Amino acid sequence: MNISGFEIICLQEVGSTNDVANIYAQKAAGQKLVIAAKRQTAGRGRRGRSWQSLDGNLFFSILLEFALKDLGKLIMAASLSLLLTIKQYDKKADVVLKWPNDVLLNGAKVSGILLEKGEGEYMIAGIGVNIKQSPQGVDMLYPTTSLKAAGIETTPDEFLQKYLPEFSANLKLTSEELRRKWLNNAKGIGAEIAVRQNGKEQKGIFKGIDENADLLLKTEKGTEKILAGDVFYVGEENG
Ligand code: BTN
Repeated sequence: MNISGFEIICLQEVGSTNDVANIYAQKAAGQKLVIAAKRQTAGRGRRGRSWQSLDGNLFFSILLEFALKDLGKLIMAASLSLLLTIKQYDKKADVVLKWPNDVLLNGAKVSGILLEKGEGEYMIAGIGVNIKQSPQGVDMLYPTTSLKAAGIETTPDEFLQKYLPEFSANLKLTSEELRRKWLNNAKGIGAEIAVRQNGKEQKGIFKGIDENADLLLKTEKGTEKILAGDVFYVGEENG
């Protein structure tokens, strides 16, 4: 099957769709591929965490040639497109973006994106969407939810079919267009946030993002660019 120029490969069970995508990167010869799996036994999250891959949820990786210097575009397009796909189901859904690439539905995390460099010029955008179930556990960094819990009934296949045209269209926008759209849907611009990275925490005011999707944090030292980390909204339980 091909959607919006992406050839889709559907598998039953894999370790991580990102790893399978990287195997294809060695022979993809410029092709744009999507590797989707019904089950993952070793799903990975950001910053070395694992990704609980529960039955009925969506797990896929997009493999495409992409210059590392344009990574910000991929971050913004991948997350914005998730938000817009959810809005296709319910245009009034309470859905916002949380830096760097989380989507919050009714205040809780409904999806995750793991960007990894693949072989050669390839980038891999691994995406998990909680369609039916939301991972639970004491070690969860943020509260989680699912589309089903928010009253949105869909299937992994249907969501993917709606997502890919959104993603393809958004990737054609300029960095500045993407940045504006991303900021229009972002949570907490002007609010106090804490950014945690490698055991360190930095507090400041969330001023937005730049064209590389780096976070702009205003502290007493001035406005700093943050390249990676986990954001918590100060004053909110579980951030
Ligand atoms: C996060 O920590 O929020 C990112 C989670 C990314 C999970 C997806 S599921 C499909 C792809 N394969 C993986 O192993 N991880 C990503």
